[in-house]
Amino acid sequence: MRFLIRPLNALMMSSYTRIRNPGTDERFPISLESSYSRIARFFGILVFIFIIMFNSIFLYRQTFSRSLLIANSTLGFSHIYVIISKPERAEYVKPVLKYHNLDYEVFHAYTKDSDIVNTTVSELWAKGQALDARNIWGLVGCWASHRAVWMDALEKRYTSFLVLEDDIDVHVDLRRIIQAGWNNLPTPWDMYIPGPCYPGFVEGWTAGPLKKLSHMACTHGYGIHARIVTKILEWSAEQPAIGIDLQIMTGPVHGGLLEAYAIDPSVIIQRPLDTQHPSAIGTNVDVKDEAPAEDDWRPNYLFPKEASTAEKLSLAYWY
Ligand SMILES: *[C@@H]1O[C@H](CO)[C@@H](O)[C@H](O)[C@H]1NC(C)=O
Ligand SMILES: *[C@@H]1O[C@H](CO)[C@@H](O)[C@H](O)[C@H]1NC(C)=O
Repeated sequence: MRFLIRPLNALMMSSYTRIRNPGTDERFPISLESSYSRIARFFGILVFIFIIMFNSIFLYRQTFSRSLLIANSTLGFSHIYVIISKPERAEYVKPVLKYHNLDYEVFHAYTKDSDIVNTTVSELWAKGQALDARNIWGLVGCWASHRAVWMDALEKRYTSFLVLEDDIDVHVDLRRIIQAGWNNLPTPWDMYIPGPCYPGFVEGWTAGPLKKLSHMACTHGYGIHARIVTKILEWSAEQPAIGIDLQIMTGPVHGGLLEAYAIDPSVIIQRPLDTQHPSAIGTNVDVKDEAPAEDDWRPNYLFPKEASTAEKLSLAYWY
């Protein structure tokens, strides 16, 4: 009790004695000076403890809580589409997505058997275009499929959506890194790309795992904000003899028409081609490969082994 009573006494007496007879106090043998310093020390320590606690909580929140947050089952987008070009690819990509407990909608790609691809290719040929493009059915199938997804997203009024293709591998820490991207994503944004290829970045612009894009290609993993859906539909309205990524990303991003941000290094990659596993950009195409496997760009974007979901699940390549 003494340790409580003495400071209390001293508190009461100090105001009393100061009025009555500042400096001395005959009734209490306790030295005022030492009581003052005890109180000061007591409160000093208290304040110190509070400051330390407050600071640690603040620092903890700053440093860890962001990385502890995890994106939801649609990775923070309103919706996820997965474009499946071949049934056997689904067998490969589904376990990858399941590992991360993602909710997504499968969109079956248009193949050369579909009317839209057949008609479009015939039209291109009639115009004398793309006669020598060996993978023209693939390009047209890709164009028709991605556009159909955007039209669906427009109709459903999704605020944002992520489009994935079926030959992807994703980082084992996908949800956490995508969330860290969201935490740093400026508004307004047009494209949030977890898996760009051939990226070029705006110098000096970095925020968490994000960089601002000045250039990019590839459609295997990209997020779109609703505000640009009609634009990308317009930009791609005319069927090209080139990839759809060139129409809606490479050109517009390079031209500064879009606010596009990417996670760098990528957290969604396309598995590399090899001679047994050629590109399926040509959905259902007889043509085996569009480029020799050794010239393929994809090996440059591979994950370290421990970061690959496919490795973790010991997934065979597609068959
Ligand atoms: C995930 O979060 C986004 C953004 O808040 C939201 O639009 C979406 O509906 C959520 N997905 C699920 C499955 O709750
Ligand atoms: C489109 O389909 C028709 C009939 O099925 C076929 O004769 C034609 O060769 C196809 N056109 C192309 C460009 O594949």
